[in-house]
Amino acid sequence: MAGHPGLAEAPILDAVSIPRHLAVIMDGNGRWAKARGLSRTQGHRQGVVAVRNIVASATKIGIEYLTLFSFSSENWSRPATEIAELLGLLKLFIRKDLSTLKKQNVRVLVIGGRADLSADLVDLLEMAEERTAGNTGMTLVIAFNYGSRSEMTDMVRRLAREVEQGRLASDQISEEMISSSLYSAGIPDPDVIIRTSGEKRLSNFLLWQAAYAEFVFVDCNWPDFDEQQLILALEEYGRRNRRFGGLAEEDCQGSKKIVASGG
Ligand code: IPE
Ligand code: IPE
Ligand code: MG
Repeated sequence: MAGHPGLAEAPILDAVSIPRHLAVIMDGNGRWAKARGLSRTQGHRQGVVAVRNIVASATKIGIEYLTLFSFSSENWSRPATEIAELLGLLKLFIRKDLSTLKKQNVRVLVIGGRADLSADLVDLLEMAEERTAGNTGMTLVIAFNYGSRSEMTDMVRRLAREVEQGRLASDQISEEMISSSLYSAGIPDPDVIIRTSGEKRLSNFLLWQAAYAEFVFVDCNWPDFDEQQLILALEEYGRRNRRFGGLAEEDCQGSKKIVASGG
């Protein structure tokens, strides 16, 4: 109980509710703003406040990897002013929050295409990765200009080139090789994907990596998503029965338990 010396503070969540990797589709900034008579820009700005809070909560909860979908490869189809605002907010977040992230022992990784980003933004993202590379706490994965289909297209091209050049035989291509040829190389698959705003789709997010992820869809818009909402979503995840194609232990009825290969 808090405040009693010698007694450990009760954990916020049971171990089963703490995913190793939580990925979040942060959706609904525009609708949050519209409902309040504000501009979409104001919705995105409030979205950054929610990002800060969720990073702090996830660190406190003991999540190892937190991936935040912050700009999709399809978001380039939005009006130029909105794109400029979103790019500006990413830059501002890195510039303003990097010292806090360092204090929180957070390691930053960025996944997504870099070829269509400006040189100064790429430099900034690389700087954030380099300056936090030695941090040993949570890994914050920022999915920016990310789209699964282009990630997979890049991967296929890279492997095809290896085959073309005689360095790889096609039958050597394995699931592990594919995983380690994606932007997310080295990052474990997400255990749970939360999407806010009531939409129930992946919108081209982590299609390969989500093979055995649990999905939790919450109705609130991203700027309203706080620690309490996060805990409720993770409790729901903790109640799921993950089987990875095998059987739940109680259904094995004395026969040799099939060890699940996922997670
Ligand atoms: C999420 O909010 C932020 C991004 C996709 C960049 P939206 O901007 O998609 O908000 P809605 O869906 O229009 O409410
Ligand atoms: C998904 O949200 C992308 C991000 C949260 C960054 P969108 O708002 O772009 O998705 P759709 O267009 O509703 O599918
Ligand atoms: Mg949206």
